[in-house]
Amino acid sequence: MEYSFSKRALNMQRSPLRENAKKNLQLTDGISFSYGYPPTEAFPMQTLRKLSDYIYRNVNPESYLQYGPAEGLPELRDLIKKRLFSHLNLPENRFDNENILITSGATQAMDLVVRILCNEGDQVLCEEQTFSGAVNNIRSYGAVPVPIPMNISEQCVDLHALEKRLMADVHHKIKLMYLIPTFQNPLGTSMSTENRHKLYALAKKYQIVVFEDDPYGELLYSGQEQKKIKYFDDAGLVIYSGSFSKVLAPGIRIGYILTNNEILDKLVLAKQVADSLSNYYWQVMIAEYMKQYDFEGHVKQLQALYKTKLDLMTKKLDEIDPAQLTYIKPHGGYFICCQMNQSIDPSRFYEQLNQSKVSVIPGNIMSVAGVGYEYDFRVNFTKPSLEEISKGIDYIHEALNHASVRGEQFSS
Ligand SMILES: Cc1ncc(COP(=O)(O)O)c(C=O)c1O
Repeated sequence: MEYSFSKRALNMQRSPLRENAKKNLQLTDGISFSYGYPPTEAFPMQTLRKLSDYIYRNVNPESYLQYGPAEGLPELRDLIKKRLFSHLNLPENRFDNENILITSGATQAMDLVVRILCNEGDQVLCEEQTFSGAVNNIRSYGAVPVPIPMNISEQCVDLHALEKRLMADVHHKIKLMYLIPTFQNPLGTSMSTENRHKLYALAKKYQIVVFEDDPYGELLYSGQEQKKIKYFDDAGLVIYSGSFSKVLAPGIRIGYILTNNEILDKLVLAKQVADSLSNYYWQVMIAEYMKQYDFEGHVKQLQALYKTKLDLMTKKLDEIDPAQLTYIKPHGGYFICCQMNQSIDPSRFYEQLNQSKVSVIPGNIMSVAGVGYEYDFRVNFTKPSLEEISKGIDYIHEALNHASVRGEQFSS
């Protein structure tokens, strides 16, 4: 049978990240820095066991084994909204006309948003290196992801380049900006509050909706918290998306959106089509976790655990000569983005790394254009153990020495 797939299916590409993850799961003796996963020790098993037992014994099964509202469990929606106002410092009175939609992860949040805002041929502006899942999602609807160059020293998209793009859009093809302003994936960068304000002013001037993807936002390990772009949103332009994947567990598939009610109504219709509602049992679990246990304490524990791992990784990376490798030091999140010097041959570097059974994510995989970042790679510091971080960075150091094209001698 010769299948005739839809254009939409043909537009979708195999996710190199997922392929890599599958390969890594089969690796038993290697060191993987390519995951965007939490480590097993980050799962609060005891609390989850107690909660599960409590729910099966005490909660009416109609409220977690039955179909439910597509918007999500009302109690969880309220708890998330309150939490956003108290912990993320969003000004409550600005959001009277806004509400929460529970989604099946941030992945679905983006999927629903593109579904309701983009026609084929429409454009979505993105950071030029970004989460490949979002890029794939945009393409799957026939929309076009358009990379905006980064101003790395500002840790922000280049606001001049952005405005030039917006100004040139005389046919109104740009429907959305997709941004990861805090602990960006793969760069680890965070926009300053001032730049977020400026970016919001541009979105408002040109009337473009912003999707603020914030799955890592709570994982701050040092420095000062920046305000969300959503904080400035007095015109209902920002769709803020959070997730429990990185602060509880990705397997539960629960995320959420805070947005204007008019957008939310359309998203609910799209959600009904997509999967009718997100995992109801886990919605109850999270609501009970927040009511009965110290969820904020759990997040603090994660921050402490990941800070230790980040500190070790940066200490090890600092042992490498900056003439070979530089990196952007993040203040939180999951990733560090490294840049090899041009005196390194990337193919020899990856060959050697393969031999040492160490995996990283090559820069081009996370580039919207798919080229231009041959010398970049992303490493994850949350999933590997401290021992793996230490050994793995030594292997990276060795691979850099091996791949030095001018034969320079670097101390190891
Ligand atoms: C920037 C970004 N957005 C969204 C996701 C997907 O999150 P979720 O598991 O909530 O679907 C990821 C996952 O790695 C991510 O890095």
